Parts: sequence; C-alpha cells; structure tokens
Amino acid sequence: MTKDVQTWRIDAPGQTLVLASSGGIPGALYWGAALPTSVDVSSLAAGVARDVTGGMIDVLPELSLCPEAGNSFQGQAGLVAYRDGVALHPRFLLTEADGLRFVCRDATEKLTLTFTFAVEGDVISAKTTLDADGVVALHHLAAPVLPGPQYGEDILHFTGRWIGEFQLERSPWRAGLLMREARSGRSGHEHPPIAYFPERGATNTQGAVFAMHYGWSGGHVMYAEELPDGRRQIQWGHATGTRPAGAHFETSKLYMSVSEAGLNGCAVAFQRHLRDRVVTWPHPERPRPVHYNCWEAIYFDHDLQELKAIADRAATLGAERFVLDDGWFGKRDDDTSSLGDWDIDPRKWPDGLTPLIDHVHSLGMVFGLWFEPEMVNMDSDLARAHPEWVLGAVDQIEGRQQRVLDLANPEVRAYLYDKIAAVLSTHDVDYIKWDHNRLLPISDATQAEGVYALMAQLRADFPTVEIESCASGGGRIDAGILKHTQRVWLSDSNDAQERLRIQHDAALMLPAAITGSHVGPRHCHTSGRVHDIAFRAWVAAQRHMGFEMDPRELTEAEAQVLTEVTAWWKANRDWRMAADILRLDSADPSVLAEQQMAGDGTQFVVFAGKAATSAQIMPRPLRLTRLDADADYKIELINRSEAHHLSRREMPLKSGPLTLNGQFLMQHGLILPWSFPDRMWVIEGRRV
Ligand code: DGJ
Repeated sequence: MTKDVQTWRIDAPGQTLVLASSGGIPGALYWGAALPTSVDVSSLAAGVARDVTGGMIDVLPELSLCPEAGNSFQGQAGLVAYRDGVALHPRFLLTEADGLRFVCRDATEKLTLTFTFAVEGDVISAKTTLDADGVVALHHLAAPVLPGPQYGEDILHFTGRWIGEFQLERSPWRAGLLMREARSGRSGHEHPPIAYFPERGATNTQGAVFAMHYGWSGGHVMYAEELPDGRRQIQWGHATGTRPAGAHFETSKLYMSVSEAGLNGCAVAFQRHLRDRVVTWPHPERPRPVHYNCWEAIYFDHDLQELKAIADRAATLGAERFVLDDGWFGKRDDDTSSLGDWDIDPRKWPDGLTPLIDHVHSLGMVFGLWFEPEMVNMDSDLARAHPEWVLGAVDQIEGRQQRVLDLANPEVRAYLYDKIAAVLSTHDVDYIKWDHNRLLPISDATQAEGVYALMAQLRADFPTVEIESCASGGGRIDAGILKHTQRVWLSDSNDAQERLRIQHDAALMLPAAITGSHVGPRHCHTSGRVHDIAFRAWVAAQRHMGFEMDPRELTEAEAQVLTEVTAWWKANRDWRMAADILRLDSADPSVLAEQQMAGDGTQFVVFAGKAATSAQIMPRPLRLTRLDADADYKIELINRSEAHHLSRREMPLKSGPLTLNGQFLMQHGLILPWSFPDRMWVIEGRRV
C-alpha cells in the first residue's frame, strides 16, 4: 500500500471507477471492467506509479478529474478561466470527500471545484461545479476527466447532417487532440455528444469498450487527447466560452459506461438509462401509440375536410395518434412568416381546431400539435411588437427565414408559456412536436437553460402532454432534452434505406421507445427514391412506429401490408419497447442487422435489412448474440411470404419455424434467403 494516498471506488453494472488523491484533485486510478468486490483498491495505488526518463520533468503531473495548467500539465487543462482578464492557474487541494462527492479548494485564487458522481442504473454519471469568490470569465470547464484506454486504437465518434444523422466516424488515437465542438447552440446534427472508445479488435458484440455521453442540448466540446507522455485523457464540457461571466458554473452530467461485450454493452446501458431513468413518461401505463404525422401529406395546406379524410384512412391502417404539423397558426402559408404568432389561423380554421380534434377522437385516436416555440419570423406580429426579443445582431444571417427568440429573457418565456398553455388548456392535446429549425446566431448556454425552464414549466402544468424533440430531424438529441421530452424525431429522412442506417447507428444511444420512425410516401420526398411498402413498414416498425404520408396514396395491396405490419408492431410493442437493441456483427457489409432482445432473454426479433446489393452471390450467415448456448430457440422468418421468386430453392426457414441451438446461432449464424436490396427480413426467436 502506498502511503498518503486516499482511494475510493464507485461500482456500476459492468464497471468500476477507482479514484485516488494524494492531497490534490482526485484522479481516476482505474476505470474499466468491474473489479471484484474483494479488491482492496488502496493497494492499487502502487500499481499505477509511473517512471520518467530524460527530457521529462521529474514527476508526471496528475491526470486528475480536472487537470491543472498550473501544475506543468502539458495537455488541455480541465479549467480555463480569467479574472479581470488575467488567466487563472489554480492549484487545488482536496478539502472534503465522501466517495461520491469531492470538494477541492484553491485558497489563493479563491475557487472551489466540486465533483459529483452517481450510479444511475447501468451508467455512472459525473459532473463538475465551479464556485468562485467574485466574478470570473469561464472559457472551459470539464466534466470530471477520465483516462482514455491505452489499448484503444480508435475513437468512434459521430457526425451527421440534415437527413443524414448519426454517421459514425473512426479516428485513430494519435499525438495531440481530437476536438469536437458543437457551436450551433444545440447538441446538433454535426457533433452528437457521444463517443465510444473501443479497445483493439472490439466489435458490436465482442471486446472491451468505453463510452461517454454528455447530456447537454446547448452545444458541447469533447477533447480526446494523447499526451506527450502517452497517457490519454477525455474531456467533455459546454462549448467553449458560451457562458456569461459569473461566480457559479456547473457542467452537465457526463454519462459513462464500460463493456466487455462489445459496443452493445455500452449501447444497451445508454438505451436503458435514457428510457428508464431520464425520460419521464406521461402515461407509463399506456403502450406507445402508433403515430400519424401529416407533414409530408399536406405541408402548409390545411383543410379540415382533407385532414378528416386523411385521419379516417390513418385510423383504418392502425394509427392511434394524429399529429397536425406546421401551418395551423398566424398566417403560416409557407416558412417565411408567423413563427411567434401562436394563435390558430382563422382563415384555415374558422371554427378552430376542435372540429378536427373531435373527429380524431371519434376515430379512437389522440391528437398532437406542432410548435416551434424558440423561433420567430421577422414577418410576424411578435417580431413587429418585440424586436428586442430577437437574439443576435439585426443584420444576422437568417436560417429558414427565421431567427431565434432570447429564451434567457423571462418575459419571452412567459409569453411563450402563455401562448402554448392557452392552446393546451382549451384543447385536448396529447402530444407536442417541439421543433427547432435554425442554428443559433450566437452559441449561448443561457438559451438552452431557458428552453429547459420553459419545457419544465409546461411539463409541470400539463403533465399528460408528451413532447417530441425535433430539430430539423435529429438536431437536438441528448439526455438534457430528454429530461423534458419523451420522443425524438431522429431524422427528416423517411427514406427507408437511409433510415435503416441512421437507426442502426443511433441505437448506440437510443432505445426504440423514444425513437420516432415513420412510413413515408412511396416517392420519398427527401431522396426521390421509391421503396416498396413492406420495406418502408418494417424499417418504421423497428422503432416507435408511425406514418407520414397521405395514406390515400396507398393501393389496397399496400394498405394491407401496412395494416399487417402495424398489427404485428402493436402485438409486440409491450416487450419490444422495453427491449435491448443489440447491433449484430454482419459478415456482409450490405446487411445492417440488429437483434431486439427481451429483458428476460426469452424472446427476440432480428431485423436484417439489406441496404445494398451484396458483393457475394449468396447471403452469408448472420451471427446472433447474447443467447443461452445450452438452450434451443424456435426461429421463424415471419415475413417469408416476401421472398422473391429469384430466391428459388426450398429451405426450411422459408417453409416455417425451425428449432436451432443458441450456441449454433451465435457461432455459425442464421442463413437467410436471398433477397433484393432494400428489403428487410424479420425473424422472431423464442427460447424453447
Ligand atoms: C422540420 C421538421 O423536422 C419537419 O418534420 C416538419 O415538422 C417541419 N419542420 C415543419 O416546418
């Protein structure tokens, strides 16, 4: 045992974090796969002592929870702040520690840092608080800093864009910094605040993996840095310099997971955490309703009779919630005007929304409505009355012809609250689609805090109303917004092939229950592609299913397919919306496959989507995962009737259920019939 070193351990399922301090800010002595409970962690301090050699200073500076620039630390410091324009170089001493909360003080600079950890189900959360005597200007404050894996070669992070969310990027660890910063004022399409740090050779199903998610919607920064001495550090915080000067600052919570079972171990930890601990469900007893959204059916062209006819058809197909999207307020005939004027447009709705809502209810559906509260068009009564409520410079560049309201201003929040509450208290609204369609002119954290406050107030006063987070599709998806919302509009792409990929990669974070997915029009409005109804329906059925097209375009045959898939979705939603999504390691890169596994392991469904034509002529076997090697499973290809005549050979799976051993399915894999690209095989499995 090394003297004068204090140690603490934090255990969550699958991971242990050991913190150590020799008087200064604690640092992670160990972060990795769970250590046996019998380990005396104080004995480990001796095992992490490091040598130095020529050309180095005499002792390695701590890689602490907040590396200090004032301590010869050569990498990115965890705290960068100024007082009266002068950079601070604090040296903190640990003053209090109870194993989950650590308080450190620099008496000279008069700063206090507090690090707070919690075990939240399958993840560890951590946050940093800075308190200053007097005002400081904060440039950067990191959530508790942890080491990057020494056995990792790559960093798996995400980029994306409108209709192309959650694209995986793989960057090698190399000398210096990988910096990802979202400066758009939202978590963003471009830099989703999540990253995976796999060890060498890890796949979806195997190997050691570390993962982190920063739960903040206002723009963040991630630094993954290899230090000159070879150690690696990972930092997350709010985007640089986005907070006003002050005396108290908090980071958002950083969520951490470790897996010895590949990326899936972390993915499942995040899925469960968001679904079971972050989101508060307005109707926990109610199954997720099949959703209908009219946006791609009618856009701004609102007509009561047309919408009633659409609602009739949507209900027949199986919809249970009908959502009126953009265009019902102000004089909103296109996207150039009226944001901010949240009064029902009497030209389009002479008798208000009640006739439509009553009709929707008469069909057994609940009703939902679109808002974009944070935004304003300069062509609006609101902007004319309150130009001072608009955020940013007068000559700013607009986005979608719109600007942003200053949500840090309580008067603005009060106005928006009153407008939205007036609609909610006079109409039976079950759900709000809360949109956000432009980047902020200035990246400012107070804006996101204002949005959270407004949402919290509405949620408190209208607790049965569900909110969906939409930002031109998936531009604001993070644990911060999900504290106030229950669904995310993952993408404006209803192209089934693209959605298949987006969903697959977003499952590294998102569970099915909160991921909206809609069956779009036959001719996709964002890609021009034509996909058959079965493929469109099955892709939507992978997540929280909905429709978003004019359902009157469906032929009878298409309507029948969609009705059947929707009925299957409803029959299975109870267990599937609580299932783990496990990404499969497909031997064929053109097949994107996942296994949705019931919590008790007794049943699963595999979706094997063929996103492109395969290089080889026959399908390669698809290995399943997390089965009981000793058990048998009844396997059934439930949509075998979709087999094309070019799949021309008898195979047992095409005729009916098979019983196969779990180990065989995990080691050899399941051989599926040949198919065209843009098709999905759906396989149910049940332990026998
Ligand atoms: C952008 C959203 O992502 C769409 O789904 C739709 O709601 C439009 N805004 C409405 O303007």
